[in-house]
Amino acid sequence: MVKTAILVSGGGTNLQAIIDAKRAGEIPAAELSLVIASNDKAYALERARLAGIPTAVVHKEKGEDIAHYGERLLEVLHGHNIDVAVLAGFLTILPENVIRAYDHRIINIHPSLIPSFCGEGFYGLKVHEAALQKGVKVTGATVHFVNEIPDGGDIIAQKAVEVLPGDTPEILQKRVMEQAEWLLLPRALQEVASQLDK
Ligand code: GAR
Repeated sequence: MVKTAILVSGGGTNLQAIIDAKRAGEIPAAELSLVIASNDKAYALERARLAGIPTAVVHKEKGEDIAHYGERLLEVLHGHNIDVAVLAGFLTILPENVIRAYDHRIINIHPSLIPSFCGEGFYGLKVHEAALQKGVKVTGATVHFVNEIPDGGDIIAQKAVEVLPGDTPEILQKRVMEQAEWLLLPRALQEVASQLDK
């Protein structure tokens, strides 16, 4: 089984979807070995504890050199023999040394159909605000490999979701999570892990 770390910053509903899919036997290729949070207030940490998954908090200190922060992250990842990392609502840009060390072994979920509404500054509700402002009729979610370009790596999976009249960013976010993110991310993890598990 491929040892997997899930990196989180907030509520952790995508982490929960992975935990639930693992319990349902839908991710046989991956072991959920570690949850790393960017801050100790993330509710995702509680979800990890309830599921019995070891946790760590690695916070980028103010003024810390980005490469140094990357080294600290790598120490934790290597310390747990992690093969694959999943960014599940992880809102810190990953340092290049981490991306290089885990080339095509880090995946990210983004709440739009890339290349729309993505890149630096597009995260969480901001993505849905931008989609509504543009007036698109269809949005969705994307899982992709992480490279040095924010939201620019190879696409693994996408799913479209309708935008409906009267949508607010919050309503749209919830629909995109329910109809796309929570299905796509566990499947993509199984796909990537099974390739590495050979
Ligand atoms: C999710 O919608 C995820 O796609 C998004 O943050 C939310 C985290 O929710 N990620 C990004 O915007 C990354 N650019 P969660 O903590 O409940 O999984």
